Amino acid sequence: MYSHVSGTGMYLPERALTNNELAKIVNTSDEWIRTRTGIEVRHIAAENEATSHLAEKAAYSALEASGLGPKDIDMVVVGTCTPDLILPNVACLLQERMGMTGIAFSVEAACSGFIYALTIADQFIRLGQAKCALVVGAETMSRLLDWGDRETCVLFGDGAGAVILEAAENPGILFSDLGADGKHRDLLCADAGVSSLKVGETAKLHMKGNEVFKVAVRTLEAMVDKVLLENGLEQGQIDWFVPHQANVRIIEATAKRLGLPMERVILTIKEHGNTSAASIPMALDTAVRDGRIKRGDLLLMEAFGAGFTWGSCLLRY
Ligand code: COA
Repeated sequence: MYSHVSGTGMYLPERALTNNELAKIVNTSDEWIRTRTGIEVRHIAAENEATSHLAEKAAYSALEASGLGPKDIDMVVVGTCTPDLILPNVACLLQERMGMTGIAFSVEAACSGFIYALTIADQFIRLGQAKCALVVGAETMSRLLDWGDRETCVLFGDGAGAVILEAAENPGILFSDLGADGKHRDLLCADAGVSSLKVGETAKLHMKGNEVFKVAVRTLEAMVDKVLLENGLEQGQIDWFVPHQANVRIIEATAKRLGLPMERVILTIKEHGNTSAASIPMALDTAVRDGRIKRGDLLLMEAFGAGFTWGSCLLRY
């Protein structure tokens, strides 16, 4: 048994925050942000919108696209590093609100959270332990930002994306590869938590951007080489590259390694910013709905994030 994606959905909060607006809060400029990152605008969740609310809207949209209802779902996996609560996990909150049953848990792998969640759901379906999974990437990164730190607050945004992953005779997911290396933990972190010494402090995200940049490019290039080699693919044979949207320069370097022109790369960073685990399913849904990605196309999704964690997934859509 294999798994295939039968529907996609996304949700972007209404409030758009432009680079020019940010330039009134911190010492930055639209020009710096656009040329260094590719971002023009990001969206910010309303005060009464938590991660599970964004996830719920993306989930209903994916269910509608697949022609299924909540009762058909027997597994919910949510990739997020900005959960509503410490417990219950976001997937359980979604279950309760949408009337779903079965397995439900969240995966904490930062920007790689969706690829981790998708890979786990695929394994459950391959083993026959689930038939129809709702896989979500959802984040309210705005809640984790220090709005006085220009090196991070200009980069991130909020949003959610979801896919329905159903059991199928043919793949679907052809290949996935996950990795992590904890020795880089200090380059990108939000250093407060429940059991750390900083109990009670509000977590804020810190990043040594240019050091992260170098490791990200190196890691993603190695990952691309592995995907091509292990699947007997030549450069240029992927139809669509659907990357994590952290920085357009990182994406361009990886696309070059794949032998793909930028016309075959799904870029949403301009309008979404970096939405961490939500960025890949949001990019996927954007390109499915605007008609670029069609049934039968070969897609490569890949991500890199705090940890460091990384992952890739080759999908016959
Ligand atoms: N506006 C204006 N100037 C800024 C700025 C901002 N928002 N943020 C930083 N700068 C300044 C720096 O202070 C530095 O000034 P200096 O040269 O006087 O010291 C200069 O811009 C260059 O900073 P640097 O950090 O070297 O820039 P960069 O080209 O590496 O771009 C990032 C910064 C964060 C955009 C880039 O490093 C990046 O995208 N990193 C990886 C992000 C990522 O992949 N994360 C993992 C997944 S979430």
